[in-house]
Amino acid sequence: MAYDDYGELSLEHEYHNLGNDYYKIGEFDKAIEHYNKALELRPDLLETYFNRGLAYTRKQMYDKAIEDLNKVIELNPNLAEAYYTRGLIYEYKQNYDKAIEEYDRAIQVDPKYTKAETQREVARNKKASIAAGGTYGGGAPQGMTPGAGGSSGGENLTKFEVMKRPKLRFKDVAGLDKIKEKIMDYIVYPLTNPELSKRYGKEAGGGVIFYGPPGTGKTFIAKASAGECAAAFISIKASDIVDMYAGNTEKNLHNAFETARKNKPCILFFDELDGIAGKREGMDQSFEKRAINQFLIEMDGVEYTNDGILIAGATNAPWDVDTALRRSGRFSKMIYFPEPDKKTRGEILQIYLKNRPVSKSLPVGRLARMTEGYSPADLKQLVDAAATIPWKEAIKTGRERVINFDDFKNASSGDDAVTPSLPAWYGSVKKKLIEEDEDEQGNKGKGGIFRSVFMDIVDMSPTQNPDGSPTTQTVKHKSEQKELINEEERRLYHLLIKDIEARNDEFYKITRRARTMFARYMM
Ligand SMILES: Nc1ncnc2c1ncn2[C@@H]1O[C@H](COP(=O)(O)OP(=O)(O)O)[C@@H](O)[C@H]1O
Ligand SMILES: [Mg+2]
Repeated sequence: MAYDDYGELSLEHEYHNLGNDYYKIGEFDKAIEHYNKALELRPDLLETYFNRGLAYTRKQMYDKAIEDLNKVIELNPNLAEAYYTRGLIYEYKQNYDKAIEEYDRAIQVDPKYTKAETQREVARNKKASIAAGGTYGGGAPQGMTPGAGGSSGGENLTKFEVMKRPKLRFKDVAGLDKIKEKIMDYIVYPLTNPELSKRYGKEAGGGVIFYGPPGTGKTFIAKASAGECAAAFISIKASDIVDMYAGNTEKNLHNAFETARKNKPCILFFDELDGIAGKREGMDQSFEKRAINQFLIEMDGVEYTNDGILIAGATNAPWDVDTALRRSGRFSKMIYFPEPDKKTRGEILQIYLKNRPVSKSLPVGRLARMTEGYSPADLKQLVDAAATIPWKEAIKTGRERVINFDDFKNASSGDDAVTPSLPAWYGSVKKKLIEEDEDEQGNKGKGGIFRSVFMDIVDMSPTQNPDGSPTTQTVKHKSEQKELINEEERRLYHLLIKDIEARNDEFYKITRRARTMFARYMM
């Protein structure tokens, strides 16, 4: 019964809901304590087992969690969510076979439960990557619990490659004039004129985040910046750092900073920063928690000095970067890399056409107009694909000819067409970020990238079961009202968010027009 005779919530439900309250603020011990009390009063509360299982999972007490999920499934064998969750727990235990089995079952009981399909794919990939002799995310081999590092863990630390002085320069980077100027201010001048800069309070140090859609030149310009100030360049990806052996992630990060300190002046560049320093919520990324703590230690400059080191990071998903890293003194500066405008597209095309035989009458301006939605990386690919056509002909026939407009038309149509990648990117991010999708009950917010699965709380408020019928039959999940992206982030990334919001309909129309233009020229 949800209510007692006085119309009040029964004691076990009070305990359950108290447990939920503690769960929501991350006090999992207290949550478990209250779920225990509820279950003492009534041992058939499915939601309570479910949530206690989630709380145990958050505490990484996976065996206990599985016991609770077993109980849930015993009480209701038709709950896809329960199999799915049990699968996730097995996945955290790195038992991918079991995890896949659970996802299969989830799909069996509810074919519409597509989350399980997606997750099954993830588990299969992890399994395959381990079978191939690799490690998942640099992680521990199967059966090895994170933290059980042992001797083999210590031997696998990453050695970082130092590029003494990259040849790449700003002149090799088309357009992006404003960005180059900012980089001069934030990175180049402070590194090349440390004394003068210091006198004016412009010390090198702290960090810069480059953010924007994929393929817009973030990685490219980071390298060119090092070339520009004759500094060493160390580029680091998540897979270089992240290691599930306890301690290795921290050691890798520390070594990265130490390598930079030994190679001053130096740009220490973290590519795909969100993969290294993702938000700390969510227990499945405990390696990231460790990475972030280490970042804070290395960047705060109490124990270490980072004189002469510029730290930069790049990301397509800045909202996924832990907020602690953005506070002052750490990654405090932000530079937005927008998609290229027409002029920049022209310049990029020119750069990649420069050393190739090109028709004098190639209308680069028109090409620039027609390539709305192409990222710089797409444009480079388009030029490559266009150049391939006369090159292949020349190999076959021995006759050389220049690259012409037709080659571009052909490269941008047909099966292997190089098409613009940005519209789809905006679309997918908008969907994840802005349009919170609704589940069947009309609950908002399911599936957004900012909601980890474990934020789902089974709600036991009496409104869900007004007749007091056994709660085991109607499990309804209440999404926590967790903001997908908070005000501060909205402000910080407003340039990107504005683009994401604006690019859709109009953007697709323009792109379609660009395509039909190509089509028209094809005739
Ligand atoms: N502004 C630019 N000028 C010339 N080439 C560019 C430019 N931006 C990107 N590219 C090309 O696109 C490729 C991918 O860009 P990248 O820097 O990796 O993008 P991001 O890091 O933003 O995803 C680069 O290696 C470079 O060849
Ligand atoms: Mg990149």
